[in-house]
Amino acid sequence: CGIVGYLGNKNAVPVIVNGLRRLEYRGYDSAGIAVLNGKLSLVKCKGKVSDLEAKMNNSIEEASIGIGHTRWATHGEPNDTNAHPHTSNSGDLVLIHNGIIENYSSIKKALTQRGYVFHSDTDTEVLVNLIEDVMKSEGVHLAKAVRIALNQVIGAYAIAVIDQNNSDQIVVAKKGSPLVVGVGEGEYFIASDATPFLEFTKKAIYLEDDEMAIINRGQEIEVLSIPDNRTIDPYVHQLEMDLASIEKGGYDHFMLKEIYEQPKSIGDTLRGRLLPEQGLIQMDGVYQFQEKLLNAQRIIIIGCGTSWHAGLVAEYIFEELARIPVEVEYASEFRYRNPVITERDVVIAISQSGETADTLAAIKLAKERGATIFGICNVVGSSIARETHAGAYTHAGPEIGVASTKAFTAQVAVLNLIAIKLAHKKGLLKESYYHRLLNELNEIPRKIEDMLKSDAQSRYIAELYKDAPNFLYLGRGYNFPVALEGALKLKEISYIHAEGYPAAEMKHGPIALIDENMPVVVIAPKSGQYDKIVSNIQEVKAREGKVIAIVNDGDSEIAKMADHVIEVKDTMEVFSPLLTTIPLQLLSYHIAVMRGCNVDQPRNLAKSVTVE
Ligand code: G6P
Repeated sequence: CGIVGYLGNKNAVPVIVNGLRRLEYRGYDSAGIAVLNGKLSLVKCKGKVSDLEAKMNNSIEEASIGIGHTRWATHGEPNDTNAHPHTSNSGDLVLIHNGIIENYSSIKKALTQRGYVFHSDTDTEVLVNLIEDVMKSEGVHLAKAVRIALNQVIGAYAIAVIDQNNSDQIVVAKKGSPLVVGVGEGEYFIASDATPFLEFTKKAIYLEDDEMAIINRGQEIEVLSIPDNRTIDPYVHQLEMDLASIEKGGYDHFMLKEIYEQPKSIGDTLRGRLLPEQGLIQMDGVYQFQEKLLNAQRIIIIGCGTSWHAGLVAEYIFEELARIPVEVEYASEFRYRNPVITERDVVIAISQSGETADTLAAIKLAKERGATIFGICNVVGSSIARETHAGAYTHAGPEIGVASTKAFTAQVAVLNLIAIKLAHKKGLLKESYYHRLLNELNEIPRKIEDMLKSDAQSRYIAELYKDAPNFLYLGRGYNFPVALEGALKLKEISYIHAEGYPAAEMKHGPIALIDENMPVVVIAPKSGQYDKIVSNIQEVKAREGKVIAIVNDGDSEIAKMADHVIEVKDTMEVFSPLLTTIPLQLLSYHIAVMRGCNVDQPRNLAKSVTVE
């Protein structure tokens, strides 16, 4: 979900609508806008920004102040009434909100007793009325009422609120959900991330948790701490992102663009860090905590979704090379199960967005218990990046497609760098092997570039199997997590049911599903377990399953058995996930396009899950 707002000399309407469109990638199910131009104009509806525009039907006149919202339903189904903005009972206050107010029902009860009525099922409508109630009962102005109200609220929020009677002010606040203020010449922008205002200003203030800002026309922004009303001197970031990086650049979809960007994004991840000629890996974040990492009794990797899969790949790499015990866990499970954590544990938190609520909460828990937290994030300055003790950015560039592609391979590349560095420091790698690793990792972007020269084979296979109701993905070792990731990609964007499994586990259950209608994608590059996976392919063929095998260039043995092969370049086994992932991304992409699915914004999914 996303927040946008504007206060300045431009017409706020197109700024807000275009801003909402820029935030579409975050995933949402309803949209709305409210502007003030002498009177309040508010339009909201279930559906996409294009539906909102149709409903607006050019009826909103010019305005120099306004707020807009895309909603991803938490409390209450997606419908016109539950869409934001929400107004207070008097109609004066208008508010947009991302996040969840956990104690909303007790507040709602108290407000109902005081005569307030509620039209929607949302926690947001409760909040806007709470603010109004404080304003009225305590006789205070909007900003003060927001601060008092938020001190009664438990939960996560990024909010923006305006008062119909004051077209010169927006009040915003943040805790747990992201909020950034763009500072222009005599104008301010607010948004969930900087993409809505990049073309207008590169100056941005990222609010921290428990901070609010009062934005007045023609005045300096005022930032306050919500708990104690302290004035805060905001740090103004100079953004480095450019507009081209958030546009499609000739591709039909962001996802396709991002798949094709991988030679560059992995190159950017490695740049300045991997120095094969000098035989070096340089990483400031690792250097800072090198001793902790080298002496870690255990590394616990946490993440969600695709980032969790990158963590699983890392488990194989870290244990194999650096001989440090690794556990990988879903952040959402970790945080609620009273895990055993000691000061000798290092937690690696992986997150593309750096905003995932469960991951953030898991980090806080591990921190409280004394662990050292290392973050691997893509979004610079994100909440997780700020919450961790040290870290390494993936530098994959903005990822807009909801289904993660280039962020995954960048995460895996960073984790490879760290593991190799630690293994070398620990004296576990022969020099010749160490240099081979560095040289080979350095070759990966070029190999992916070669592989991307043609996607004819994945397109052909997509055409044949696009109507299959189920898919099975199998892999072993380093490529078991790749099987999970391949299945997740297909589920996310094509809505075909798919399961990823360790190939050897197939005989303990999934084999029962196999018949002549079941496509089975087997990830089978040359590896220590090659012969075993060949046997698994035979097991599938014996039951008439259709085998789509991901193999190394020129693998004639599997080509004879499989129904189809897609070839990837040879590499060292530790790096093979970086290559085998690519055809699986393309396969799911083509299937989704052929099925007419909304590839970049799949139904029900959000890019940045700031709710629990
Ligand atoms: C959402 C996204 C996934 C992503 C997951 C974790 O579900 O749709 O693509 O893998 O969140 O997000 P993070 O930003 O923490 O990597």
